[in-house]
Order: sequence, then C-alpha cells, then structure tokens
Amino acid sequence: MAPTKSDLRRIDLCAADEVPPGTKKLCEVGDELVLVTNLAGTFHATQGICTHEYFELDRGAMTGDSILCTLHMSRFSLIDGEVIDPPAELPLAVYPVAVEGGRVLIDVPAGPLEVNR
Ligand code: FES
Repeated sequence: MAPTKSDLRRIDLCAADEVPPGTKKLCEVGDELVLVTNLAGTFHATQGICTHEYFELDRGAMTGDSILCTLHMSRFSLIDGEVIDPPAELPLAVYPVAVEGGRVLIDVPAGPLEVNR
C-alpha cells in the first residue's frame, strides 16, 4: 500500500543556496548521509554513500546528471539512482525533494531512512 501523507516525515537537509547549480552537498540525517545535488536548478537527493563499498559521494565527480564514485569508478544516475557503470550493482536510494522557503527538504516514510548497501 502506498504511504499516505501522515506516514511521511519531512526532513530539512540544507539551505538551497548552499548548493548552487552543478554542485553537491552531503547532509547528515541521523546516522545516515544524503547527497543533495543541483542539476541546472533542479534539486535531487540520493543516499550519500556508494552502494559498492564505503565512499562518501560528495568526494565523487559530477558529470551532467550522473556521479562517478572515484574509489572504484562506479557511476550512478543522480535522477533515479540507477547504476550506469559497475562494479556497483545496487542503485542509490533516491528521495523525493521539495524546496520551500529556501530550504531543501525530502519527504520519506517514517522510520529509518531507506538506504541500499
Ligand atoms: S566504493 Fe564506490 S565504486 Fe567502490
């Protein structure tokens, strides 16, 4: 069953102006990390750690709408999280973004943040 609005929690990640177009920022959500990216003015949010091994993706390289994990060269779509180049096999978890009052927010199910590892 799809989550209803009351099953969701809204998480404030950062100020929108902290992430200018073409840049990224790693934000802490409890024990997890979320990567906020700004693709030509549209914000996206994915899990912040590579699904292959432990590597913080703000240290990766953004190219267009993808990110390269520079530890072993996996590439992921920043839009849907899918693996573009291996060795990673699991996609990045993606989170729906809202921008309100100059803040970047995500709406996710209550409970632990979904992360693929
Ligand atoms: S940790 Fe990212 S590709 Fe290996």
